[in-house]
Amino acid sequence: MAALIEARGLTKTYRLGQVDVQALRGADVDVARGEFVAIIGPSGSGKSTLMHLLGCLDTPTAGRYVLDGEEVGGLHGKRLAAVRNRKVGFVFQTFNLMPRLSIEENVALPLKYRGGIARRERRARAVAGLEALGLGHRIGHRPEELSGGERQRVAIARALVGGPAILMADEPTGNLDSKAGAEVMRTFEALHAAGNTVILVTHDPNVAARAERTIEMADGRIVA
Ligand SMILES: Nc1ncnc2c1ncn2[C@@H]1O[C@H](COP(=O)(O)OP(=O)(O)OP(=O)(O)O)[C@@H](O)[C@H]1O
Ligand SMILES: [Mg+2]
Repeated sequence: MAALIEARGLTKTYRLGQVDVQALRGADVDVARGEFVAIIGPSGSGKSTLMHLLGCLDTPTAGRYVLDGEEVGGLHGKRLAAVRNRKVGFVFQTFNLMPRLSIEENVALPLKYRGGIARRERRARAVAGLEALGLGHRIGHRPEELSGGERQRVAIARALVGGPAILMADEPTGNLDSKAGAEVMRTFEALHAAGNTVILVTHDPNVAARAERTIEMADGRIVA
């Protein structure tokens, strides 16, 4: 199967005043197209750090990273953001929706940042994405009018609207009750079944059990 993610020796060191924090100490990660992978491990083991690097939200201190055939390990700032916009759909634990925008506007936002897509097409794609996730009746609403599970599905629609090569989520059920969490997991499973590549970080063994493969981290390294 074609490799979608090929990372070698990914390292991240944060500078905290005079102290270096080695959050990631050389991770090798391969993910094939169409896989469903869960990243697990104790708090502070580097899961979010690794996801942020894989999701092009941050640049590694050292290491090589090829995402969907593109060398991205050395990119910063706007160039990294442009790759992220085209290739990655990222879902956060706390949804990160814009409170002043309608859910349709929230979902269309990545297309606006991308540029070159007419307003009418942005809206059409946002509406289609929301309808596909069963949120068609919520289109004119604001995030605060939705339940937690609905908000997270809006965030998933936003992650998908740009047609990313990969869908990533950091503790996507962490702020949800068990019923809403199960609904969000069914959404990820359905997206995986439809051919999407999915990587998610989780504390929850029940969530991890849904994935095809788990990557286990401890103390900034991949241990299994
Ligand atoms: N911006 C930052 N500045 C300094 N240190 C950081 C920063 N982000 C993370 N760290 C440190 O890096 C290490 C790994 O953090 P990370 O957030 O990746 O862990 P995690 O496995 O996602 O934990 P959790 O399960 O609690 O979310 C921790 O020691 C953390 O304190
Ligand atoms: Mg984390």
